[in-house]
Amino acid sequence: MRNLDKFIINGNKPLRGEVTVSGAKNAVVAIIPATILVNGVCRIENVPQVSDVIIQLEILQQMGAQVRSMNPTTVEIDCRHMRNIRTPEDLMRKMRASYYLIGTLLGRYHKAEVAMPGGCNFGGVRPIDQHVKGFEALGAEVSVKNGFVYAQAPQGLRGANIYLDVVSVGATMNIMLAATLAEGQTVIENAAKEPHIVDLANFLNAMGAEIMGAGTDVIKIRGVKELHGGTYSVIPDQIEAGTYMAAVMATGGSVLVRNVIPKHLECITAKLIEMGAQVEEMDDAVRVSRTGPLRRINIKTLPYPGFPTDMQPQLAAALCLAEGTSIITEGVWDNRYRYVEELRRMGAKIQVDGKVAIIEGVSELTGAKVRSCDLRAGAAMVIAGLAAKGVTEVEEIAYIERGYDNIVEKLQGMGADIRRVTVSEEDAVPMAR
Ligand code: EPZ
Repeated sequence: MRNLDKFIINGNKPLRGEVTVSGAKNAVVAIIPATILVNGVCRIENVPQVSDVIIQLEILQQMGAQVRSMNPTTVEIDCRHMRNIRTPEDLMRKMRASYYLIGTLLGRYHKAEVAMPGGCNFGGVRPIDQHVKGFEALGAEVSVKNGFVYAQAPQGLRGANIYLDVVSVGATMNIMLAATLAEGQTVIENAAKEPHIVDLANFLNAMGAEIMGAGTDVIKIRGVKELHGGTYSVIPDQIEAGTYMAAVMATGGSVLVRNVIPKHLECITAKLIEMGAQVEEMDDAVRVSRTGPLRRINIKTLPYPGFPTDMQPQLAAALCLAEGTSIITEGVWDNRYRYVEELRRMGAKIQVDGKVAIIEGVSELTGAKVRSCDLRAGAAMVIAGLAAKGVTEVEEIAYIERGYDNIVEKLQGMGADIRRVTVSEEDAVPMAR
């Protein structure tokens, strides 16, 4: 039976109190497959409890890895006796980050057969040509047939110089994964610089890899023969933190956001301050408050350290209530505005023209039935619902639960009136559209 569960939000209440941010989803979804390269037991701490992680652990288990949950946020993975390098197709298609299996299987077994990734679809194509270009430069033959990526390097992988034509997070990480056990040195130029790239490099280095320059646009990977086991703690999720900060902007109030690296949030906090927030930075926490009016701003999303595309929908939701007209330019994805139609159902005034969205602030949003179009779009619906007058029902929450750990409990902890209800297919009333 399909999952029709939804969130019911009784909005228009300021958020107060504190929230603790979980480990970074986009780091851990690369670190989990990276354990395939390791000849030993990896103990990974600060793992968020999100469905993308559950799916990935299930994929590894089905391939013969031993996975043990030590506590809700710590997992031990041992891939030494992995016996089946065929990846389970149904699970692979459920998430985008399954593409990291190509880099790790190629790296360890010199052969990969992986279903084309699924995951959030923003309405356009999500190509992997830069990943393929990297694998080919390392000596692999790669073909895409019938929805599968086939890659093999019977002679093994050899280090190479690779210049990425577009700054791609996934291609940077995937090439790094494939090159870790390759012979010789690999140099990735025009590499992405996101905090989760540095985190993956730190994980691999902690297990014995030799990767330098992660966090800059030139990454050097000196191939090593073997990685050994060890313990690693995942960085806090910059986007989860930013999402709760954006929620405070929309509702007003004051929240202490714990377990963050304030440096990773700089591009977000700068924009929130422009919008009228007070932001106080501590060592591993930030307090964000808004008591005065919300001010309009312009945003252009860019690769790190630019403003993250994964925060674009959440800030758009808050800007619906700002004084004046805000302009958003999406600089990473061709199309990431499918959520706009949902916000309009709540009274938002937004026009979209290609990569640009023009948001004319309104004095209030009103509760409505809306759906999540993807992970961050779903988070934007929750933010709009928290700020709106009346009751908002957010449907298709499976997208949200792919990347937000215990979002309902965390918001309740900040005083939000939100609950999750389980709906069976028989009880569901179709949404009129
Ligand atoms: C990662 O996706 C994130 N996902 C995305 O977050 C995020 O939006 C994106 O990076 C940008 O920051 C994960 O980490 C699992 P890209 P990724 O390769 O790696 C083009 C979320 O909400 N491109 O950096 O797939 C591409 O079309 C998710 O958590 C190519 O042209 O993104 C896009 O325009 C959604 N060829 C741009 O590069 C390629 O081979 C950036 O994509 C690869 C990408």
